[in-house]
Amino acid sequence: MSATLSQFAQSLSVETAFTVLAVAKQLKAAGKDVVELEIGDSPFESTPSAKAAGIEAIESNQTHYCPSPGLPEFREAAAAFVKNEFGIPAAAANIVAGPGAKVFEQFFCEAFLNPGDSVLVFSPYFPTYVPNIHRRGAQIIFSPLQQSHGFRPEISQIEKFLDDAASPKAIFLNSPQNPTGGVTTEQDLRDIADLLRGKDVAVFSDEPYCHMVWEGKHHSLLAQDGMLPQSVAAYTFSKSYSMSGWRLGFAVASTEVADAIGKMINTSLSCTPPLVQLAGTRALKQDHSERTRQMGLFREKVELLTSGLNQIDGFHTLPPLATFYVFPNVAPVCNRLGITSHGLALYLLEGADDAFGVACLGGECFGEAGAGFLRFSCAEPNDRLQQALAFLPKALSREDRVASYLERHPAFRLSNEYPEP
Ligand SMILES: Cc1ncc(COP(=O)(O)O)c(C=O)c1O
Repeated sequence: MSATLSQFAQSLSVETAFTVLAVAKQLKAAGKDVVELEIGDSPFESTPSAKAAGIEAIESNQTHYCPSPGLPEFREAAAAFVKNEFGIPAAAANIVAGPGAKVFEQFFCEAFLNPGDSVLVFSPYFPTYVPNIHRRGAQIIFSPLQQSHGFRPEISQIEKFLDDAASPKAIFLNSPQNPTGGVTTEQDLRDIADLLRGKDVAVFSDEPYCHMVWEGKHHSLLAQDGMLPQSVAAYTFSKSYSMSGWRLGFAVASTEVADAIGKMINTSLSCTPPLVQLAGTRALKQDHSERTRQMGLFREKVELLTSGLNQIDGFHTLPPLATFYVFPNVAPVCNRLGITSHGLALYLLEGADDAFGVACLGGECFGEAGAGFLRFSCAEPNDRLQQALAFLPKALSREDRVASYLERHPAFRLSNEYPEP
């Protein structure tokens, strides 16, 4: 008899984007032309100084263990970066290097949560928050983000959480937000800081899209007075420097929390590869103009996709504020066709046409509050985005194909209509 998996392992939920990516790759291997807008990756090359520094680092044998919290030069460069760009009062001792931003969700939960604690998560949300909170036996309280409120967190919901939750201990904030593209304004951050300052409540401030703000600039909660000691911010090289496969990010926290997270790295990963940190250090110092150029290209893509989607009957998308995602409300289309939003996403990939498909995700992959929406990333060249836009109205008019897709996949039949905008 084999050993049984833990309840945690059996209940583990994952990022659906990777599941849909696997289906898209399989269809492509079988000859289908698929425009892949499901995964949140950059279509651009890693920035040039980063690539050169990585090669140099291997050639000069920077290929051994290094200190668990990170190389001193990386920590210094990261601290200077958040201080200069976002006004966070950080020094090298406040920085911990990690393989991307995602791993800090787990370390944040390990740093602050005990079983039974309550955690506030705004929904729709980045899917791996949930398993990382459950890993510590904490309870999640979801608060819906509304398209009519620009997908910004409502301060009254934080007050309610602090007043009503059994043991309020942590809040997950994500701005600019995946999947909605919403931005928490500087005034929102001031209000949040005023509510939380000095309370025994920790904030995970997830900021991977800090350079993808299309109106104004990015603001971090950690720049607000007194917020550094009770927050952990996570940054990544995956988006700003197109380095998702290198796996590099870092956290900013008080020295006490940074030390605790350093111990978690010591006891799990040992360290983040030094050659990758050296590549990232060079990117922070030298790839500013390439980063700005790539961000401009992302902005064009988001604008192209948003305006194209808004011309489709039954699609309603907010003007682009941030990130490389577009998150239209498609409730009228789902209600007309009797299909769930993730069913609609998979129909566009698998069912609408034999030779061509578009891969995207249903909003419910990011929590119940996302139902009735689709999430498109912009990870393809602009002509491919145009092809996808031209395909969608055709696909949505093929009602016989929708019906036969639903025959084969009855789980995607919509049982209760979505509220329409
Ligand atoms: C909100 C959010 N957090 C974290 C991550 C993880 O990024 P990384 O590649 O740095 O682990 C992503 C990636 O898509 C994201 O969208």
